[in-house]
Order: sequence, then C-alpha cells, then structure tokens
Amino acid sequence: MFNRLKEKWNVSWLQFTLIFCTFALGGSSCARLGSYFLNLLNLEKSLLYYIIYIPLITILWPACVLLISIPLGQFSFFKNYLQRVWSKMKGEKQNIHYLAIFASGAGSNAAKIIERFKNHSTIKVCLIVSNKKEAGVLKIAEQNQIPTLIIEKEQFFSGDAYVAALQKHKVSFIVLAGFLWKVPEKLITAFPNKIINIHPALLPKYGGKGMYGHFVHEAVIEHKEKESGITIHYVNEKYDEGKHIFQATCHVEATDTPEQLAEKIHLLEHRHFPEQIEKLLTDI
Ligand code: GAR
Repeated sequence: MFNRLKEKWNVSWLQFTLIFCTFALGGSSCARLGSYFLNLLNLEKSLLYYIIYIPLITILWPACVLLISIPLGQFSFFKNYLQRVWSKMKGEKQNIHYLAIFASGAGSNAAKIIERFKNHSTIKVCLIVSNKKEAGVLKIAEQNQIPTLIIEKEQFFSGDAYVAALQKHKVSFIVLAGFLWKVPEKLITAFPNKIINIHPALLPKYGGKGMYGHFVHEAVIEHKEKESGITIHYVNEKYDEGKHIFQATCHVEATDTPEQLAEKIHLLEHRHFPEQIEKLLTDI
C-alpha cells in the first residue's frame, strides 16, 4: 500500500516519510486543538459536542497540516494536495496537462520527465517529438510506450501542419529538452506561454544560435568561468531570450573538462527540470 502511494505521489522514500509525519502530526494537533476549543466552551461529551467538534476539526485539519508541512519542507506538496481535494469536493473536473517533449539527442532529460509524471494525476507525457530518426530519445519513448512524431525541417519551418498534429495528440504544453531547432513563430502563437526550454548555462550568457550542448560547456571553460548552471525559460521568437523561470548553479573547477562540466549540468537538469515543470503546471 505504501509503495502504491509513493508511486502515485511520485516522491522519494525520504519525502514520503516526511509527508507521512506531516499527516500524523497535523491530524493529532488538529484533534488536540479541537478538544481544547470545546473545553473552553465547557461542553460535556454529548451529541452537541460532536455536532460542533466534527465541522470544527474539518476546518482546522487543513490549517494544521499546512502549518506543519512548512518546517518539514512539504508545503508545496500539501498545498497541491489540498487544492486537489478541494476541487474534488466541489466536483470540479481536474484539468489535465498533456505534455509533448521535443528532443534531438540522447533524451536523458526526457527520461527523467517521463519517470516523474508516470502516475501523475494531472500531468501526462503524451508525445515525444524529434527531428532525428536516430535520436536516443525515441528508444526511451518506445520503452515507455509513448507515441512519437518525427518532424521534417521544411514542413516545420514553412507551414503549420505540426500544430494540427500536436492538437491531434491533445498536446497542451511543450517542453524542449535538448531540442536544437529554433521554434517557428506559428508554433509559438499556437501555444502562447506554453513552451519552455532548458539551456545548459546561466543565460543570458552562452546562449543564442549555435550555443548548445558541448559548445556551451567549451565556451564556459574557455572563458575561465568559475560558475555555470542551467536556465529554464519560456520560449519566444528569439533564441534563448524568453522570460526566465528558474536557474541553478554549479562550480566550474579550473581542471574541469567540457565532459565533466556536462555531467555536472546534467545532474542539475535531472534534479530540477521535472520538478519545475510540475511546479509550473500545478501553479497555473
Ligand atoms: C541538455 O544538457 C540540454 O540542456 C541541452 O542539450 C542537452 C540534452 O541532453 N540543450 C541545449 O543545449 C539547448 N540549447 P539530453 O538529451 O540527455 O536530455
């Protein structure tokens, strides 16, 4: 049962334990607070006591759980959890986000994103798009039984045929994870503020045309930077110039090779990209 819940929430065992502790501490402190308030009213344990007690703890419980989640570092989990419970209680239909991941390479970021949202209740990876037939990301899509779409350069840049193809797959949000073509205006207009990219440096430095993958790391080392990192940003009509969503940094040692720096950057990407996507889509 614990395993199923852990998978459903898509959290580590450490986070699962902290969530569990928050539920336990929130529940017991809410029960104590409820009894404390009713004692102030000098009520005997009668029918009236319970008529007041039950609605009282129903109101106190979310507040207690949210408060306790702060020191345990679980506030964003519980905020989303309570929002979901609230919208279910109101009978609202959950808004599902259908992600298309665009990637041209090995797809390690795509793999992490797929893993994160495997059993997610409101975010589904519904399509992998690539401009390279031999890209590693397509294998990952196959292993996870996710449909794929191979795009052709001419069609991608001249018409809006791919907009219809994406709509056919119900895509509502696009994630560029190592996608090396510039996104054409037609696509940006069709998905306003719904396309994000990850860049392996601290933009605005080391961005723009031709700045991708190892070229970025080579340039960072050549300029003897002491720090590099990742930038997650919205995509606009200019290469790497959309509004920033998130940045994280890492140290660059004087002895680092571009390959070693790439490894550090990948670690940052894998840790933060899926998390930031979830934050963005559950905060919308
Ligand atoms: C990632 O490091 C990503 O930041 C970079 O390509 C790599 C793809 O790795 N993207 C760019 O350089 C875009 N300008 P992956 O295929 O293993 O996810």
